[in-house]
Amino acid sequence: MAEPFDIVIFGGTGDLTLRKLIPALYRAFRENQLVEGTRVIASCRSQQDIDSYLDTAALALQQHLSPEEFSVPEWEQFKSYLHPVMLDIAVDDDRWQALQVLMDAEPEKVRVFYLAVPPAIFGVTCENLSSVNLITTNSRLVVEKPLGYDAGSADAINTEIANYFEEENIYRIDHYLGKETVQNLMALRFTNLIFEQLWNAKSIDHVQISISETVGLEGRAGFYNDAGALRDMVQNHLLQLLCLVAMESPNKVDAKSIQAEKIKVLEALRPMHGEEVINNTVRGQYVAGSYFGELVPGYLEELESPTSQTETFVALRAYIDNWRWARVPFYLRTGKRMKSRCAEIVIQFKDVPHRVYDDSAGPLEPNRLVIRLQPEESIQMTVMSKNLENMDMQLKPATLNLNFSDTYTQFRSDAYKRLILDAAAANTSLFIHRDEVAAAWNWIDPIIDSWQNSKAVPNLYRAGTWGPDESDELLAEEGHHWFNSG
Ligand code: BG6
Repeated sequence: MAEPFDIVIFGGTGDLTLRKLIPALYRAFRENQLVEGTRVIASCRSQQDIDSYLDTAALALQQHLSPEEFSVPEWEQFKSYLHPVMLDIAVDDDRWQALQVLMDAEPEKVRVFYLAVPPAIFGVTCENLSSVNLITTNSRLVVEKPLGYDAGSADAINTEIANYFEEENIYRIDHYLGKETVQNLMALRFTNLIFEQLWNAKSIDHVQISISETVGLEGRAGFYNDAGALRDMVQNHLLQLLCLVAMESPNKVDAKSIQAEKIKVLEALRPMHGEEVINNTVRGQYVAGSYFGELVPGYLEELESPTSQTETFVALRAYIDNWRWARVPFYLRTGKRMKSRCAEIVIQFKDVPHRVYDDSAGPLEPNRLVIRLQPEESIQMTVMSKNLENMDMQLKPATLNLNFSDTYTQFRSDAYKRLILDAAAANTSLFIHRDEVAAAWNWIDPIIDSWQNSKAVPNLYRAGTWGPDESDELLAEEGHHWFNSG
């Protein structure tokens, strides 16, 4: 039976909190996963009173949940879990004592401190928590990406928070790891003999991992223009997915074993420098385009700036230099304002070694395993089969389909809900170790350096398309093409 816990969210009125965290906690409440006595303590810097905070939270829920998920009677119950506190994190004043009084009534209770604030104030937040003795042996710190800007800044952040929390009590979130299909990827690989036997360079031709988004800047211009797609998406989400596809079977499914295997993959990524970066990566930036007839502005117009070389799209070819994956290209791609919203992993198997049906039976397609995380969650395998509608021997690709929305009609996954409840229950297996963050940055940093040192600028693509032509050309070099869904 789960225990009640206190979750203190620093950045209580921020975008992440209102868009993701409060809705996730509301879902947990609706699904009876918030044990009575659990408190959601939202720390807000702006001088709101309790009622106006509750109004803000109710509005956010109505905006970010589906209509059937939100109801006024349930909100009335849920709001008794919410405890806004007015606090300026950076100022060490008596309001920290007020937080201490609120929490000290139950010193044994699990405390989850969630830093939904910029990393620049992680240190001072931990320092103030420590100075009012709020960090107990039952306390956990949850931190969000972006964890730094490069290897050096990430190390500085990790060193700073390590002054206050042990590594096993630091929960670095990558919300992609909380998506159910991502966890299913491990289940699929490590509980089915048929896949694992073929999961290597002998049978796999190449792998594609693609996260396409239709949204643009969403009011995050300042952050995004400094970060760009490589830092915002590839350093974390895409590399984490690559790790789960490529890693060896962990000895157990605990955090230590899984993280150790992921680190080995990151360390085996072939480093790219100078010309190699230019030959194996494509940067893009969107210009105005349209979705179903509706015109959307280009990146620079959204940014309200005449110039920026920030990439809103990146495609790259990576290699993992180890026995299992030698010479298998891993294509990674992500972008804003692309044609459709989709996150997908495609495992393309090799051609059969010898064709037994003659050409009149039609073309042969290699087997493909498609693991879709978004918009719906599914796993599909394409296999060649006989076309039963035709008396002649005609071949036709057929799809073996595991569509989870058909199987689990009541099920609505929420990565943040999953990860918050895991943090409260001290289940660290879906969180990221400090060394993973470092290894990922060590691979990303030289790519950014080479881009900065080259005179090249991002290739332009129209909003509502699959990115610049150069991205297709990158795959065409090896006779491949993107499998675009939607
Ligand atoms: C975040 C990025 O980590 O992930 C955003 O900062 C991006 O730019 C988001 O939009 C995508 O997450 P999801 O779950 O909507 O695919």
